[in-house]
Amino acid sequence: MLKTTLTEAVRAGAAEILRFFNRDFIISNKEGVNNLVTEADHASEKAILDVIRKNYPDHHFLTEETGEIIADSQYKWIIDPIDGTVNFAHGIPLNCVSIGIEHNGEMVMGAVYNPHMNEFFFAEKGKGATLNDKSIKVSNETQAIRACLVTGFPYTYINMPNGPLEIFDRFVRKGVPVRRLGSAAIDLCWVACGRFDGFYEHKLEPWDSAAGYLIVEEAGGKVTDHQGNKFSVYQHKVLATNGKIHDEMVAVINNQKEL
Ligand code: IPD
Ligand code: CA
Ligand code: CA
Repeated sequence: MLKTTLTEAVRAGAAEILRFFNRDFIISNKEGVNNLVTEADHASEKAILDVIRKNYPDHHFLTEETGEIIADSQYKWIIDPIDGTVNFAHGIPLNCVSIGIEHNGEMVMGAVYNPHMNEFFFAEKGKGATLNDKSIKVSNETQAIRACLVTGFPYTYINMPNGPLEIFDRFVRKGVPVRRLGSAAIDLCWVACGRFDGFYEHKLEPWDSAAGYLIVEEAGGKVTDHQGNKFSVYQHKVLATNGKIHDEMVAVINNQKEL
């Protein structure tokens, strides 16, 4: 029932993405000039909430556009109605719906769907991860110098030591390919299915990482903060890898080792 509702909700949101994609829609700004929200984000979020609340009216919700809908429930749905809104607004077909379900504070199920590529990623705690119903696994790369990485940059630049550009610089100077797709949920799923060996970012929100985090772990990968500590979707820094290059990535990110 939970899985059916999750699947239905993700598909309902994705139908709204496709309905608006490359058409006219209203765009507004959130904090930061390029932090956009479109009519499609709101339509997707509404479609998602309508599906879930029909079956689970008493559950707790945390969504990007509505915020927190508090309920005294063991279940919390963490929803990003469009992850990759800037891509969406520019007609770039790398965006998705991302929904994670927490039960008693633990992520138990997650789904990410990119309707432009018809790629549906799903994971359930302890039961593995799938892409379009086929089991997926992280890559086997064991050396960071040979890795294909992906990252993302926040809309408002973080002026801090060891910030996004410093770390990017360290990998790029050594010739490591570091991609930047513009959707953290897709980045995480592409680590899960082995297209990327690692992903790091400095300022994610729970709705960006909730589903992808479980999908990476269930595909055999590892997700932590930048120090290598246990990850929580409620803190901003994420490092997700195939597990085999994780310690090396932590060392390079913290400037403790040259590649
Ligand atoms: C953004 C994307 C992007 C990441 C940003 C997120 P949004 O989410 O995931 O890849 O770099 O930090 O805010 O705004 O498109 O839902
Ligand atoms: Ca997002
Ligand atoms: Ca979003």
